[in-house]
Amino acid sequence: MSHRIAVVEGDGIGPEVIPEARKILEHFLTDADFFEVELGLAKWEKTGSACSPGDIRELKGADAIIFGAVTTPPDPDYRSVLLQIRHELDLYANLRPIRSLQSSGDGSSVDMMIVRENTEGLYSGIEEIGTERSTTLRVVTRTGSRRIAEKACSLVLERDRNHPLVIGYKGNVLKSDLLFRDTCQETAEAYGIKTQAVFIDALCLDVLQHPNKYDVIVTTNMFGDILSDVCGYLTGGLGMLPSANIGEKYAFFEPVHGSAPDIAGKGIANPVAAIRSAAMMLEYFGMKDEACLVEESISSLISRGISTPDLGGMASTSEFGSRLVDAVSKKE
Ligand code: NAI
Ligand code: MG
Repeated sequence: MSHRIAVVEGDGIGPEVIPEARKILEHFLTDADFFEVELGLAKWEKTGSACSPGDIRELKGADAIIFGAVTTPPDPDYRSVLLQIRHELDLYANLRPIRSLQSSGDGSSVDMMIVRENTEGLYSGIEEIGTERSTTLRVVTRTGSRRIAEKACSLVLERDRNHPLVIGYKGNVLKSDLLFRDTCQETAEAYGIKTQAVFIDALCLDVLQHPNKYDVIVTTNMFGDILSDVCGYLTGGLGMLPSANIGEKYAFFEPVHGSAPDIAGKGIANPVAAIRSAAMMLEYFGMKDEACLVEESISSLISRGISTPDLGGMASTSEFGSRLVDAVSKKE
């Protein structure tokens, strides 16, 4: 089956890492139709719009979207492109696997999944900005909590682990989180899955100290955003973490990191997070073996010292990407 794939490079290092992810997609999806959609700050500076209704229509015409990152200036009048897309495409489940590619010194490796609610919580977009008082509405609904809990439970069953579903929340202070916790617990009970509710601040530390205790963690929007960056520490940094944003109709794949303006234009950005996001797209299309091959090939390159400078290597972004395509081709 031929797929229509929207490619959004975005700002900063997006146009450096996405071509490397695209190389892998083109390698495996030989008859796919790729089309580019320009979004982000650079587009806003040129046209006055960072993401137009026409852009959203184009994205909706794709079977899947690969996305780099966009710069969001801290300007009250600038609407976040990502929030807009996640809402318009109703991409309610943000799946962020935290998996180390090489065993650490003590031989242990990390493999967990953060399931982040992606459309409500503190990123509801409902804000009143004033000069003396500004507010942001934190929205938790039973429907929103149930559907993300169902996604998390299906992952617990798929991963076939004995771990409980961990619910990251802060219900002692944020009473809205009690609805989230209770709905997750009710949903898990219906699936016959045990749960453990943990306060998110304690969880951020414990996940670093005892990563192997955890398998699937479900949490609200902003907590999931923060927790996944924290977990970057376990896998070699932000250049390593991929994600999939999944809804009922659309699927959107992007690295966890942002546009990294501090390193943009230098050719040193790590493309692994973007490439692993492409591998998640392959898996979404039912190409699990191909996705595993990509992961294994990344791992073997890094273990041979071939990596970008953030991992201690000397390779440029595009060198790493090209070496990876060679490695994948040889293993097939
Ligand atoms: P960031 O994730 O862009 O960068 C944080 C740090 O990690 C920087 O030191 C950066 O150099 C490093 N880093 C990130 N990706 C890397 C890679 N692939 N290889 C090597 N090093 C990497 O977060 P920051 O600096 O807070 O945000 C920069 C801009 O990105 C902001 O405008 C922010 O709004 C935007 N952003 C966009 C996101 C998206 O489009 N998905 C997500 C997060 C931030
Ligand atoms: Mg983030």
